[in-house]
Amino acid sequence: MAKTLFEWDYSEYPGAKSYPHLFTPIEVGNLFVPNRIKYAATEENLNGLDGFITDSGVEYMRQRARGVVGGLCFMQGVYMDEAGKGQGYVGQAAAWDDKFIPGLARIADAIHGEKAIAGFQLMDCGRVGAVEVESGHGPSTVPQRLRIFKPMYEMTPAEVKEMIQQHVDAARRGVEAGFDVMEISGIVGYLISNFISSYTNRRTDEYGGDIRGRMQAVVEIIQGVKEVCGPDIPVGIRLCSEELLDDVRGNTPEESMETYKMAEEAGADYISCTLGWQESIYPVISRDIPMGNWVHLAKRAKEHVKIPIQMAYRMFKPGLPNEKIGANELDFWEICRSMIADPLMPKKVAEGREDEIRHCVACNLCLARLFRDAPMTCYINPVCAHEANPEFADPPAAEEEKEIIIAGAGPAGLECAYTAARRGHEVHVYDKRDVIGGTLNEAKNAPYGDDELWTCIEYQQTMCKKAGVTFHLGTEVTADLIEEEMPDSVVLATGPAYSKIESAAGDSAKLVNLLDVMNGQAAVGEKVVVWGNRKPGIGCALHLAQQGKKVTLVGKDKTAGFDVNPSFKWRYVLYMRQNGIVTYNDVDIEEVNDEGIVVKSYDGYRWPVKCDTIVAAQREPNESLKKVVQSEGIELFVIGDALIPRNLSSAIHDGYRIGMRI
Ligand SMILES: Cc1cc2nc3c(=O)[nH]c(=O)nc-3n(C[C@H](O)[C@H](O)[C@H](O)COP(=O)(O)O)c2cc1C
Ligand code: SF4
Repeated sequence: MAKTLFEWDYSEYPGAKSYPHLFTPIEVGNLFVPNRIKYAATEENLNGLDGFITDSGVEYMRQRARGVVGGLCFMQGVYMDEAGKGQGYVGQAAAWDDKFIPGLARIADAIHGEKAIAGFQLMDCGRVGAVEVESGHGPSTVPQRLRIFKPMYEMTPAEVKEMIQQHVDAARRGVEAGFDVMEISGIVGYLISNFISSYTNRRTDEYGGDIRGRMQAVVEIIQGVKEVCGPDIPVGIRLCSEELLDDVRGNTPEESMETYKMAEEAGADYISCTLGWQESIYPVISRDIPMGNWVHLAKRAKEHVKIPIQMAYRMFKPGLPNEKIGANELDFWEICRSMIADPLMPKKVAEGREDEIRHCVACNLCLARLFRDAPMTCYINPVCAHEANPEFADPPAAEEEKEIIIAGAGPAGLECAYTAARRGHEVHVYDKRDVIGGTLNEAKNAPYGDDELWTCIEYQQTMCKKAGVTFHLGTEVTADLIEEEMPDSVVLATGPAYSKIESAAGDSAKLVNLLDVMNGQAAVGEKVVVWGNRKPGIGCALHLAQQGKKVTLVGKDKTAGFDVNPSFKWRYVLYMRQNGIVTYNDVDIEEVNDEGIVVKSYDGYRWPVKCDTIVAAQREPNESLKKVVQSEGIELFVIGDALIPRNLSSAIHDGYRIGMRI
């Protein structure tokens, strides 16, 4: 009989009626799991540089444990060697010595405190490792494709044995710390996958050769870890189902499926189906990849093994995993980024509060920060990584209740509005448009998944409604209005101003505004110059190129997409090339004439670009109301693009911070 850790009854949960398959129990090894929800292991760089667990790490996990409503909750993968060759992140948790057990136990306890099942993950980062040392280890010496990673050198047979033992020892520490499930991470180019792949394993000894040889170290790890875990602690493994490394002679999908069978034979109790590699040229989880794009791989995996198959990868909404579990094409809905963005996401699904979910927008800022040695934060969740600070995570009621006018119902204004209203203020949001959303109304029309950005506004709208924010749409905030209302505080969240072209004609007939183009109100010729090479300009350039226009992107920044994080920027660079967009960076427009424009580079070169239309996407701070408010002596805050034109993330974070400060 399978072991039950915590009793859960979902019969009163509305979500269990809407998504019954997500809330059906399952046995994993000898463990009874009451639902099909798993928070997948997530590095967050919140631990000490010495690998010890911190309060921030514990509180981060406590929130995610609450979110899985009794399901599986995994802590980040730990590295297991004292030398740190397997360490991939400066703040990665360590488990190479017994001295780490008490800290790890704090995480297991926090997860258990929420009646969730605590998962421990073993993750030697292999080719993605050696973050603090000169070089790393791997099955063979194969040069890195990505310059950001360190050189890797071939392990001797003795070192391979030592590495296997390190997994076993770390698993024992996880068990002693109180974890209930053990997982070996063979994800996206880390050590396990390095051994398995024909791209990185060129060994000729017992740990190389054909797929069976390349799996040998993994089989020994599974067997060793099973032994220390005993019958009651299931052992799972994350294994690549498609490496997407065809161009460097990686494994075939057939070979990958062989590894699934071998893992099952070796005693694995479940497999988490992963895909792609850091070094693959194919994107897997960015916003341009449609949700649910990969779930067919879980179905294929299930055709090869009998043990449960778990899978994440762009499944941000409950409908699809519920359907696939019901069709026996998947066993567990794994969730990573959706629970970075909203730790309580599945709990809200269970409680029928889906409109309160802050959906991940698949921008990959969280990852980009990890790889630059920064603590993880989230583009759209200002509280992420601040869970241990109650003043920040759940701002207390305001000492003095104020009447606040917020000018602008875009993402900055809305975030500020509900945050302040929840603290007891009387909040009035004005916008000259008769709809909320600000410039996201236009930004969401850009291609490659940007429509998903609108989920932020939907979430903020719900929160404003719940917090009792009053809206005055179709009403512009003016000097008269401020004089009449005389509020205690004014927040300017009016969005940016758009730069005029300083040269020649200034108000050229060719010139149209970015927003008018994006909402289809401006006439645009066949040859277009988009002026402004940050994200709004890029989105507009792609939007127009997809309509068949010949587009040139011209901007002052040294590279296009300066405001886009590097884990997503490469997607835009590629799409601009694919759409035939010519880009001139680090330049200004010197002249507008009948033919088009004259571009001037920073070092004085000039050249003409023919065009019928110039789209102004170059933005500036919007100071229009500042003086009026200041002259009345009213407390003033300026946030979002009105303060400094940046991106959606800055708008939300500004809004939250000012909302909790007023
Ligand atoms: C910030 C971040 C950290 C991650 N850390 C780990 C990790 O420690 N171990 C692991 O196996 N996978 C890790 N992953 C991969 C995720 O568990 C997950 O498989 C992947 O993000 C795809 O799922 P999603 O689309 O739900 O985000 C990480 C992903 C992200 C975004
Ligand atoms: S940073 Fe971006 S990708 Fe990461 S969880 Fe937040 S919204 Fe999602």
